[in-house]
Amino acid sequence: MYIQNLEQWMNNIKVTNQVNADVEVVNHSPLVMMGKGRQGAVFQLTDDICVKVFGNTEDCDREYYALSLGQQTTLFPKLYGKGPLYIVMEIIRGVDLREYLQSQPLTKALSAKLIEMLITFKKIGYERIDHHKRQIYLQPDGSLKVIDVARTIWRDRVYPYPRKLLTSLGEQNKAIFMAHVQEMAPELYMEWLHYIRMEEISRQITALLLPQEPDKDKIKNLSNSLLTTADEKNYVNLLQGLVHKVFKEEWIKTMLARGADPEAVMAKIDEYWDNLEQGFEARHPEGERHYEGVRRFEGDRHTKDNRDRRSKGAKGGKGGKHNGGDRHNDRDRRNDKKDKKKDKKK
Ligand SMILES: Nc1ncnc2c1ncn2[C@@H]1O[C@H](COP(=O)(O)OP(=O)(O)OP(=O)(O)O)[C@@H](O)[C@H]1O
Ligand SMILES: [Mg+2]
Repeated sequence: MYIQNLEQWMNNIKVTNQVNADVEVVNHSPLVMMGKGRQGAVFQLTDDICVKVFGNTEDCDREYYALSLGQQTTLFPKLYGKGPLYIVMEIIRGVDLREYLQSQPLTKALSAKLIEMLITFKKIGYERIDHHKRQIYLQPDGSLKVIDVARTIWRDRVYPYPRKLLTSLGEQNKAIFMAHVQEMAPELYMEWLHYIRMEEISRQITALLLPQEPDKDKIKNLSNSLLTTADEKNYVNLLQGLVHKVFKEEWIKTMLARGADPEAVMAKIDEYWDNLEQGFEARHPEGERHYEGVRRFEGDRHTKDNRDRRSKGAKGGKGGKHNGGDRHNDRDRRNDKKDKKKDKKK
């Protein structure tokens, strides 16, 4: 049995990660290497069992966790054990898809199995629903198995379609596979096509933007028109607006923290400003606006007028004379909060 010698053999194999190259392997054990990649080297332990030795513990933990997610399916090698830098697993035989497609056609049945594979990836919780064709093995009974799954989990950003699988198939087989997807899963096909187009457009824009050298002097001169502090009267208004924004923001935060209903808080603020305005109008019966600051403040209010219009189903947008923009901000904020709540629930 391999088990009594395993620890000793593992001490006699040193695997070191390289930059942009396969791992470096120093093997003083009697084990025979079956293959290696950038994350580890694989050695045969018995007829059916191998051990993958990693260059670092994070890759090892990731791959083990990813494989463990798939143990209830038939897609992955069975797990037999783990150390800080190694995983003992089933040897996957058969012919990998890269070899297979060199001489055999990509049939609709095979495409269906690939889609099923992606469905299983999603079902077991993989974040990257994608694999290179050389990591996919066809079994004698026509089923698939996959190896090298560490990169499927603990991901922040992934392509939202199986880009690696598609590109690894090569132009011809990619077109055949896409035609099969179109026929068998038309909605999925449309979605992939959408992402492929978006990617292409992004690539074109980046190619355009990257070499562009902006005219810094021109930007500097023209951007002076955005400055606001020099015109004192306007500056005072803007500063008042800013203070009001902060005040309102903090008020809402405090009220929400106390468990108040957001709509009720908004209504209270509106009422407060309505009262202020009524007081102002009483003091200035001719309706003359000597003090522009008050007018400016209205830009921040949920005026009764706007509230009424909204409740009648009128579109906000730019319609509100003073409030259009800020009403949107308030809505955005509420939506942000909703999103945050949703995220927390997840
Ligand atoms: N369970 C297995 N059964 C049989 N052969 C295996 C198994 N796992 C890996 N191999 C062989 O070892 C090679 C390297 O394994 P693997 O691709 O998992 O390494 P990796 O370093 O994670 O690769 P990558 O650089 O792509 O991440 C494979 O190409 C394959 O030939
Ligand atoms: Mg790998």
